[in-house]
Amino acid sequence: MSQAKKLPLVVLISGSGSNLQAIIDGAAADLPVEIKAVISNQAEAYGLTRAANAGIETAVLNHKAFADRERYDQALGELVESFKPELVVLAGFMRILTPEFVDRFQGRMLNIHPSLLPKYRGLHTHQRALDAGDKTHGASVHFVTAELDGGPVILQAQVPVETGDDADKLAARVLTREHIIYPTVVRWFAEGRLAMNDNKAVLDGEPLTSPRQLAFDETPPE
Ligand code: GAR
Repeated sequence: MSQAKKLPLVVLISGSGSNLQAIIDGAAADLPVEIKAVISNQAEAYGLTRAANAGIETAVLNHKAFADRERYDQALGELVESFKPELVVLAGFMRILTPEFVDRFQGRMLNIHPSLLPKYRGLHTHQRALDAGDKTHGASVHFVTAELDGGPVILQAQVPVETGDDADKLAARVLTREHIIYPTVVRWFAEGRLAMNDNKAVLDGEPLTSPRQLAFDETPPE
């Protein structure tokens, strides 16, 4: 493994944590990151077990213990900062974030969303794609800004919608591609190739005028 400095990360989850697992697996190979902590708002999130199995520190901050979103996000922000991350990775963290929280980590917080943004912001993306009769669906990795699922998109994976798909089947197909694109974007950031400037994603010094794409059968981009 390379001796280069590893980028310190904090990963926020609410559920299964399969995207977290993809980053854990990447870090165990040659992804130059160190996951300092995994934080969940849900005590029963399976991703906490994945983190513990990998020897990563975990924390639970239950939103129900706080009077309002502002106070929760304030405490969450302090907890995240205590691990001194250079990148915050939202991996199925199912909370709407306050503008104060987003500001605090602006330009160093990524999210993965299960649709080809700007299509289908918010929830139930797979069912909405099926209801619309889309032939292609997918997932997007983007910088987080105050606009919900509206920050600059960096990389998308396109996934075919197949005859007989229901939301679960489609979600499973999309997830396998999420596990490729998220570590890819984290690598770009860790290698200093990716930044956010003027509300635009900048990759290798060039503002992206449209997101990079990973087609159905393509292997990850360099
Ligand atoms: C993923 O499909 C991710 O894109 C989605 O939740 C799932 C988490 O799966 N995120 C959102 O919907 C965010 N709004 P995982 O816990 O197995 O990584």
